[in-house]
Amino acid sequence: MAQLTESVRLEQKGDIAVITISNPPVNALSYHVRQGLIDGIKEAETSSATAIVLICDGRTFIAGADITEFSQAPKPPSLQAGQDAMENCSKPVIAAIHGTALGGGLEVALCAHYRVALETAQFGLPEVKLGLLPGAGGTQRLPRVTGPAKALEMMTSGEPISASEALECGLIDEIVDDLEIGAIAFAERAVSDSLPLLRIRDRSDKISDAEVSLFDNFRKSIAKKTRGFLAPEYNIRCIEAAVNLPFEAGLTREQELFSDLMRGLQSTAQQYYFFAERAALKIPGLPKDTSLIDIQRCGILGAGTMGGGIAMNFVNIGIPVTLVERDQESLNRGLAVVRANYERTAARGGITSEDVENRMALISSSTDKNSFADCDLIIEAVFENMDLKKEIFRELDAICHPGAILASNTSALDINEIASATNRPESVVGMHFFSPANVMKMLEVVRGDATSDSVIATAMSIGKRIKKTPVLCGVCHGFIGNRMLFMRGIEAEKMLLEGATPAQIDQVLFDFGFPMGPFAMMDLAGLDIGWQESTSSSSTIREILCETGRRGQKNGLGFYTYDSTTRAPTPDQDVVALIREFAESKHIPQREITNQEILERCLYPMVNEGAKILEEEIAIRGSDVDVVWINGYGWPMYTGGPMF
Ligand code: 3HC
Ligand code: NAI
Repeated sequence: MAQLTESVRLEQKGDIAVITISNPPVNALSYHVRQGLIDGIKEAETSSATAIVLICDGRTFIAGADITEFSQAPKPPSLQAGQDAMENCSKPVIAAIHGTALGGGLEVALCAHYRVALETAQFGLPEVKLGLLPGAGGTQRLPRVTGPAKALEMMTSGEPISASEALECGLIDEIVDDLEIGAIAFAERAVSDSLPLLRIRDRSDKISDAEVSLFDNFRKSIAKKTRGFLAPEYNIRCIEAAVNLPFEAGLTREQELFSDLMRGLQSTAQQYYFFAERAALKIPGLPKDTSLIDIQRCGILGAGTMGGGIAMNFVNIGIPVTLVERDQESLNRGLAVVRANYERTAARGGITSEDVENRMALISSSTDKNSFADCDLIIEAVFENMDLKKEIFRELDAICHPGAILASNTSALDINEIASATNRPESVVGMHFFSPANVMKMLEVVRGDATSDSVIATAMSIGKRIKKTPVLCGVCHGFIGNRMLFMRGIEAEKMLLEGATPAQIDQVLFDFGFPMGPFAMMDLAGLDIGWQESTSSSSTIREILCETGRRGQKNGLGFYTYDSTTRAPTPDQDVVALIREFAESKHIPQREITNQEILERCLYPMVNEGAKILEEEIAIRGSDVDVVWINGYGWPMYTGGPMF
C-alpha cells in the first residue's frame, strides 16, 4: 500500500488498483485530496493493474469541494487536473459510491468511465444552495448523461436523487450490495469484456434533440420559488450551453458564469448561511456527552392552529402523539384539520393513502390531561394567556412522570414565570414553532433560568430529528424572532400614519425578497389575535379595523380586500381613508414617503434589535439571529440575514 498524501492511499487488490480517499468528516475535495487523486491515477496507470477503482472511507463518497477553501486563495493543484487524469486514463476507471456524491464529488464521479453505487447512495449537485453552479464541468457532463430535463431539475433545486433514480436516468451503471467487492468485480468485467473507456464529454445522444421551449417553460415553472436568487438562472444558462455549444466552449461558459457568482454577494451570503445553520446546533458550555432524555411518546395540549401541525412533525418520524383538547368538538376539529393536511399531501403524491392512515393511527386523542401520564415530552399550545398557561403547567406537573419535559409553544411569554408554576423548573423549556407548524422549519428553543442541560440538549436534538432548524435563545418578550418583528411592525405602522399605504410598504419588502410584507402577514395571521371587542378603544389602526369588522384573510377583509375564491388581495381605498382619518385626528402631518425610506425604516430597527438581543445574550451568536429570520420569516437568504 502507498500513502500518496495525508488523505489518499493506493493499493492493488488482485489486478485492480484501488484509490481510497479518507478525509473526514465528508471527504471534501481539499487540496491534498486533489493531489492524491492525480498521483493515484498516474501511479496506477504505470502499475501492473488492469483497471482502477476510486472509493472513499467513512460515511460518504466525496461530498463536494471543501467549502472552507472558498474564502482562501486558490491552492494547487486544480480539481480539473485530477478529472482530466481520470477521464483520459488508458485503463478503465470505476467510481464506487456510497453515502452522498455531491457537488465536486459527483463531478469527479462523472469523469470516471463507469459508476457503481450502493442502494442507499444519493447523487446531487447542491451548488445552487450555496449561490453557485457546479463549476468543475458538472454543468456540461450531467445533461450529457441524464438529458437536460433531469439536469435542470437537479441543478436548480440542488436536491439529491436516489440510487434507483440514478440508475434509471443513466447516471450510474450498476447498484451493488458490497461496494468494494462489487466495484472490483465491475472493473474486472470491464477488462475481460473490453468495455469502452466511456468519456461523458464525448456523448451527445441525450442532448441532441432538446427542444428550445424546454428552457423557457422550465424558467416559468420555478420563477416563484427562485425569485431574487441568481444561481438558478445561471445554472439554466449553463445547461443551455451544454445543449448548444461544443463541450470545451460549454466549459468556458461555465467558468465565466461560475466566476460571476463566486465574486457576488449572494454566494458569500449563502455559504455563510450553510455554516450558520450548523453552528446553531453547537451550544457553548453544553458538554458533548450531555445525556438525552428518551422521547418515546409526545403529548400535545391544544389542537388549534399550532397544536395539530406540531403533532404532525412527531408522527411523521414515527413518534406516537397523545393529543388533548378541552372538549370533544375542538378535538374533532383539530384532528380533521390534520387528516385534511395529510390527505392533501397524498393527493399530490407526496405520501400514500396507507401513510395517511398509519400516521393518523399514531395520534391518540383525549379530553383528559391525565392521558399525558406516559408521555416523555409534553408541548402546550393553548391560548396565549399567562394565567391559563400557569394553571395548565401546575396540572401537568402533577400528572406527568418525573423527568418528563414540559414545553410551551408560547410566542412571547416569560418561560421562567411559566416554570415557576411547577416544582420542576429544570424540566420546563420553550419550544416555539412557527406557523404552519408542519411546514415551517424554524424552531426557537427557549432556555429558562433553571432549564437543565439535558432538557436543552434533548429539545435541540428532537428538533433536528423532526427536521426543524432549532436555534437556542434566552427568555425575553418575543424571543429572537418576534421581538425583532415587533420593532418592524411599530415602524411600519408609524409610516402608515405619516402617509404611506399598506400596499406600498408591503411592496417594498416583497421587492427586497420577503414572501410578503407586514400588513399582508397580519391579514394572514388574523387581525383579531389578542383583540377583544369589550376593551377595544380605537387606539391603533388594527383596533379600528377590527372594530369595523375587518379580521384579515379569514373574513376576506383586512388591510386588503380578498377575492372569495382566489384569495388574491386588492388594496382597499376604504382602509386608506380610515388611516388618513386616524392620522388627522392625531395631527400627524402627511407627506410622500420614498421606497428607500420605507426599506430603511423597516430593516434598521430590526438590525438594532438584533444587536440588543446579542448584547443581552438572548442569542448566542449573530448568525443564530440570521437563521431565525431566514427560516422563520423568509428573510431572503441571498442577503445573509439581518446580522450578516
Ligand atoms: N466542505 C467543508 N466542510 C463540509 C462540507 C464541505 N463541502 N460539507 C460538510 N462539511 C462539514 C460541516 O460543516 C460539518 O462540520 P462540523 O462537524 O464541524 O459542523 C461536517 O462536515 C458534517 O456535516 P453535516 O453536519 O452537514 O453532516 P450530515 O451528515 O448531516 O450531512 C452532507 C452530510 C449531506 C454531506 C452535508 O454536510 C452537505 O450537504 N454538505 C455540503 C455538500 C455541498 O454543498 N457540496 C457542494 C460543495 S460546492 C462544490 O462542490 C463546488 C464544485 O462544483 C466545484
Ligand atoms: P388556537 O386558538 O388556534 O388554538 C388553541 C387551542 O387550545 C384551541 O383549540 C383551544 O380549544 C385549546 N385550548 C384552550 N384552552 C385549553 C385547555 N385549558 N385545555 C385544552 N385545550 C385548550 O391558538 P394557536 O394559534 O394554535 O396558538 C397556540 C399557542 O401557540 C399560543 O400560545 C400562541 O401564542 C402560540 N403560537 C401561535 C402561532 C400562530 O401563528 N398561530 C405561532 C407560534 C406560536
